[in-house]
Amino acid sequence: MNPLAEPPLRILEDARRLQETAGFRFTLSLSGIEHDAFAVRFRGVIRAWINCCRHLSLPLDFGDAHFFDEACDAMVCCHHGARYDPLSGLCVDGPCRGARLAALEVELRGHELWCVGRPADPPAAEPGSLV
Ligand code: FES
Repeated sequence: MNPLAEPPLRILEDARRLQETAGFRFTLSLSGIEHDAFAVRFRGVIRAWINCCRHLSLPLDFGDAHFFDEACDAMVCCHHGARYDPLSGLCVDGPCRGARLAALEVELRGHELWCVGRPADPPAAEPGSLV
């Protein structure tokens, strides 16, 4: 069984306000354990992840919810530069190349964005993404 957010967590009152390549941080409980997490919008799609780099288990950002590189084509860990595909969470370059961020499942309920837990399968990349 996939870990469920306990309870499902409304993480954004109006998802339309999340701009392209913008991100925000939130905290949720999965199976009784608190996790720092974040969500971003990329190519119109909102994805959410546990905020834990696969290299050294540090947050990807400096606490400022800044996740993208200057080209806005990858999420980059601020510590040692691991580059993650924003749609699949796969590390495409850096010290943990080939590892994948822990995905969270989000869903829209009207304009609200909710986090409901971990997905059954990792999200897929889309054509033209870094993967
Ligand atoms: S902790 Fe993220 S690249 Fe090292």
